[in-house]
Amino acid sequence: MPTVISNTEVAGNIWLLTVEGEFSGGMGQFYMLRAWKNDPLLSRPLSIFNIKPGMIQFLYKVRGKGTMRLARLKPGDSIGLEGPFGNGFPNLKGKIALVGGGVGIAPFYYAAKQLPAADVYLGFSHEPYLVDEFRRAARRVIPKFGLSLVNDLEIGLYDAIFACGPNAMMRALAQKAEHTGTAVYVSLEKHMACGIGACLVCSVVCKEGNRKACADGPVFLAREVNFDAEYGL
Ligand SMILES: Cc1cc2nc3c(=O)[nH]c(=O)nc-3n(C[C@H](O)[C@H](O)[C@H](O)COP(=O)(O)OP(=O)(O)OC[C@H]3O[C@@H](n4cnc5c(N)ncnc54)[C@H](O)[C@@H]3O)c2cc1C
Ligand code: FES
Repeated sequence: MPTVISNTEVAGNIWLLTVEGEFSGGMGQFYMLRAWKNDPLLSRPLSIFNIKPGMIQFLYKVRGKGTMRLARLKPGDSIGLEGPFGNGFPNLKGKIALVGGGVGIAPFYYAAKQLPAADVYLGFSHEPYLVDEFRRAARRVIPKFGLSLVNDLEIGLYDAIFACGPNAMMRALAQKAEHTGTAVYVSLEKHMACGIGACLVCSVVCKEGNRKACADGPVFLAREVNFDAEYGL
């Protein structure tokens, strides 16, 4: 079983977990994590924050029982990791912005390392965190607070936006992009059980019918998602 190297609180309730081993994965893909036997029943999905030789990292917010258990992990503890799963962000050319709101910044450190020319927008509601780390990975990092993240973003400057964060933020970006040629890709957070397309727990209401966040996503073209039905926004 993989072993924890470190597990550090980088801001209030936000933790960075580093696990030893050789791992693979693309930007926007995720792993299912498990640091307990039966309670909670299900493993928990987390996006790849970073992969380096000999280690993988996850950035997570403590929300409930599973993430609370993760936050108790100490160096040397064992952890179950399955993955990588899902379809992540596409490999595109052109001018790209990575837009993360809250802990939705998690997939964009690894993405920034692969797209160093992309602009990275980091949205925070309280104290910012890991901004210097992002600055070492990306050419241009723009920290923002609250609603200014979407309001100030000039979508038309970009061929594509990769977004992850609160549903209202992703929907607002999709709406702003309707009047430009910009393609907006969103990474959707859904409850997951199997993680491999077998149980339908993670259904996403799309305009062409239901899709599975774990196997078809978690990254979708925003214009394909029925945000009204999905989130009642
Ligand atoms: C593909 C994918 C990647 C993710 N990547 C990250 C990541 O990198 N960092 C991170 O912090 N979180 C990420 N998440 C969310 C993370 O999986 C959940 O926060 C976690 O499963 C919560 O487990 P818990 O046992 O702590 O909380 P629970 O006890 O399961 O839930 C606590 C509260 O949070 C709500 N909640 C829990 N999970 C979700 C969810 N998926 N969507 C909406 N509401 C939820 C519940 O309704 C409840 O109110 C990701 C989710 C998905 C689907
Ligand atoms: S989590 Fe089972 S189908 Fe997606």
